[in-house]
Amino acid sequence: MTTVNSGAAGRVLVVGGYGAVGATVTSTLAKWFPGRVVPSGRDEVRARRLGGVRVDAGDPAGFRQVLDELGDVSVVALCVEPEDAGLARICLERGIHLVDVGATHRLLEEVTELHGLAAAAGATAVLSVGVAPGLTNLLAWRVNDAVGGAERIDLTVLLGAGERHGTDAVRWTVAGLGKPVTARAQRLTLPGFGVRTAHPFPFSDQYTLRRTLGVPEVTTRLCLDSRPLTAALFALRRAGLLRGVRGARQRQLLTRVFSRAHLGDDGFAVRADAYRGERHATLALTGQGQSRATGLVAAHAIRTLFTHGVPAGVHHLEQLTALADLPEQLAAHGITAAC
Ligand SMILES: NC(=O)c1ccc[n+]([C@@H]2O[C@H](COP(=O)([O-])OP(=O)(O)OC[C@H]3O[C@@H](n4cnc5c(N)ncnc54)[C@H](OP(=O)(O)O)[C@@H]3O)[C@@H](O)[C@H]2O)c1
Repeated sequence: MTTVNSGAAGRVLVVGGYGAVGATVTSTLAKWFPGRVVPSGRDEVRARRLGGVRVDAGDPAGFRQVLDELGDVSVVALCVEPEDAGLARICLERGIHLVDVGATHRLLEEVTELHGLAAAAGATAVLSVGVAPGLTNLLAWRVNDAVGGAERIDLTVLLGAGERHGTDAVRWTVAGLGKPVTARAQRLTLPGFGVRTAHPFPFSDQYTLRRTLGVPEVTTRLCLDSRPLTAALFALRRAGLLRGVRGARQRQLLTRVFSRAHLGDDGFAVRADAYRGERHATLALTGQGQSRATGLVAAHAIRTLFTHGVPAGVHHLEQLTALADLPEQLAAHGITAAC
């Protein structure tokens, strides 16, 4: 039988709590739950200035010690990508809920394998939290329902090249550019951005949705708001010139270049299209600041853990009915739906 958690008491430890995503998680939750938010990161001075503590996600013993010292952490928000599922295991075996904004399929699969452990401990892990994965998963869920079970889903993500994306997110994107893809680019309209060419990109949503929604073919594509930058980047990839970014030094260099180049606005859009025979359903969301949007999705997921009954175990966003109306809730933050 599945335990349904009836709402967590205690505090939330935000790992990466002053980064581009984590800062929104920290500030939003501090408004909703004053005195119950502990931001953290490797910079002790910065963390303490915000009323938080030092945490290094790469130091499991130190992480255990922080949890022991704080004593009443009931939710950990993971706003930085660790090397493996070790931190998730530490939280879940203690019955501490986890909200993870990570976007790497391998890591999400490793955490998914902890489902039994989480369920036994009465803890809930919420994965695929953010924009992509995250809002894309929720839109996919809806368009899949709208066509009565899709044969194919296409997801498209447009990111603002002018946004100051966090270093950890840029590092992730650069690593993605070095990975092989097989699907083709696609032209389509994105609300507020006109007709765009989007290119296949290894976002985790396309892999998890095949399992969670049972859709045989799911592809996620990416473009930037700057057309020339999108064209240049994916021309380099096609020419095989980005395969080298698997090397640590080239990855660091490209991450530094992208972190400093701000060539557009900070708007973002996500769109989902589902197909079944002649049937087609489409939904899109658009807003400003994907880091902020990711933080807001995480904050809403944590609020749900504090206030609602959520089944124990490891779940992706689209598997939790308590979060089904998240797109509507985000309208209050300027993230709006468009068809
Ligand atoms: N699902 C989505 O749609 C989505 C969207 C955007 C980002 N993301 C993910 O969100 C994560 C954060 O992105 P971001 O843009 O916020 O990056 P960021 O601005 O670089 O923030 C990372 C934060 O984590 C801290 N940190 C780094 N390494 C750490 C470690 N070993 N232990 C503890 N804290 C550490 C950093 O502070 P210190 O360096 O001082 O420790 C910083 O506060 C990335 O993994 C990214 O892939 C997901």
